[in-house]
Amino acid sequence: MIFKEKKILLRNGRTVTLRSPDEDDWAALIAYITQMATETPYILRAPEECHDTEESERAFINRFKDDGLCVMITVFDGDKAVGNCNLTVKNRKKVRHRAELAIGIMRDYYRLGIGTALITELSIIARSIGCTQFELQYVDGNYRAKGLYEKCGFVEVGRMPDGIKMEDGTYVDEIFMRKVL
Ligand SMILES: CC(C)(COP(=O)(O)OP(=O)(O)OC[C@H]1O[C@@H](n2cnc3c(N)ncnc32)[C@H](O)[C@@H]1OP(=O)(O)O)[C@@H](O)C(=O)NCCC(=O)NCCS
Repeated sequence: MIFKEKKILLRNGRTVTLRSPDEDDWAALIAYITQMATETPYILRAPEECHDTEESERAFINRFKDDGLCVMITVFDGDKAVGNCNLTVKNRKKVRHRAELAIGIMRDYYRLGIGTALITELSIIARSIGCTQFELQYVDGNYRAKGLYEKCGFVEVGRMPDGIKMEDGTYVDEIFMRKVL
């Protein structure tokens, strides 16, 4: 699915663009995920797991564009990708009402309202394709994510004890949330 370009004004007065990435944005997206993996411990990907290539990234971008049950929205400040999110609807009929989201913003752009704007857009899309519930997971201790998700109406529905092994070897829970759409 393709998300049509939309500009949003941030709290700091800057304007950024939300849109589905094109194939030609492959390098910007690799730079984005590589930076995210080094600057936050709260995404699943570790820095040493960033070995995307032009070919794999182009294919990844196209999968989202061609599939009617998922969408990717990237946040661009000029040519730089500074945030990204995606929505994936479960495929089988019995679970087709459930959409799942993942989101990440670069540190320099925290707390400017981007996360809220992205979840608002994803909720509209999820509803428009017939989903009745929205789901996500986050790593216990990620207070920014918790704050964003609670603000957007998600509630905790369970946790996987020791679901995440952090870089220092300690285990933390993975928390499951949902929101009725
Ligand atoms: C979690 C994340 C997506 C939040 O995005 P964001 O663009 O900063 O979110 P917003 O600016 O829309 O803030 C939304 C709300 O979250 C809460 N929040 C955000 N940062 C917070 C903080 N430091 N302390 C307390 N609450 C916070 C607030 O309720 C805030 O609303 P408010 O600013 O109107 O009070 C972003 O911090 C991020 O990408 N972190 C790294 C990757 C990550 O953790 N991804 C989530 C994995 S599940």
